[in-house]
Amino acid sequence: MIDQLLAKFPIVSDQIQRDELRVLLQSLEKVVTSGVAGSVVELGCYKGTASLFMQRLLDAHGDGRQLCLYDSFEGLPEKTTPDASPLGIQFVAGELLASCKDVTSNFRRAGLRTPEIRKAWFADLRPEDMPRSIALAFLDGDYYESIRDSLRLVWPRLSPGAIVVVDDYANQALPGAARAVDEWLRSHQGSIRVAHSLAVVGKK
Ligand SMILES: C[S@@+](CC[C@H](N)C(=O)[O-])C[C@H]1O[C@@H](n2cnc3c(N)ncnc32)[C@H](O)[C@@H]1O
Repeated sequence: MIDQLLAKFPIVSDQIQRDELRVLLQSLEKVVTSGVAGSVVELGCYKGTASLFMQRLLDAHGDGRQLCLYDSFEGLPEKTTPDASPLGIQFVAGELLASCKDVTSNFRRAGLRTPEIRKAWFADLRPEDMPRSIALAFLDGDYYESIRDSLRLVWPRLSPGAIVVVDDYANQALPGAARAVDEWLRSHQGSIRVAHSLAVVGKK
């Protein structure tokens, strides 16, 4: 089913590749088919490229759980020291700017139910701003502080069996993502598997 979706529908931005989408959708399918309770959240949705596929997969399974998207809709924040890469500069503050309307238009055009969307900097949110229970969290904020803040938000809300997928874990141009995940797992119990550039993290 996942490969059929990936073959049938366009990838509407260049911020996630087909192989990465496959890993994300396999994780989502796993929580759906094993009955893990809770919503699906994406922190760093940009134009909704991955979100569209996640909603399509939920629909294909007849699964009505809520998809909730979070983004500054002001583009990326400033990098901090842990984001420095010997490969040079990838992205500057304000880049990857999309609007909430871009996302809702993409969902409407695709004929999909509009997700819940919240415009905010992750640092300004609290875990109480997340759904009460989360089955799958996709963290795609690119930078150290964005991923660290995202983990802080979703971790207390994860259901037993939930999965956290973090983009750019194995992307040397954006080393902050891996630093945030590794640091988090030094003080929180979790498993980690790397697939393409993604980390697939489970809470123990
Ligand atoms: C690589 S894009 C996300 C790509 C998206 N997941 C997709 O499927 O196309 C990164 C997004 O994260 C958002 N972002 C990064 N850090 C953030 C932060 N600290 N707070 C809020 N949004 C943030 C940016 O605005 C941008 O839209």
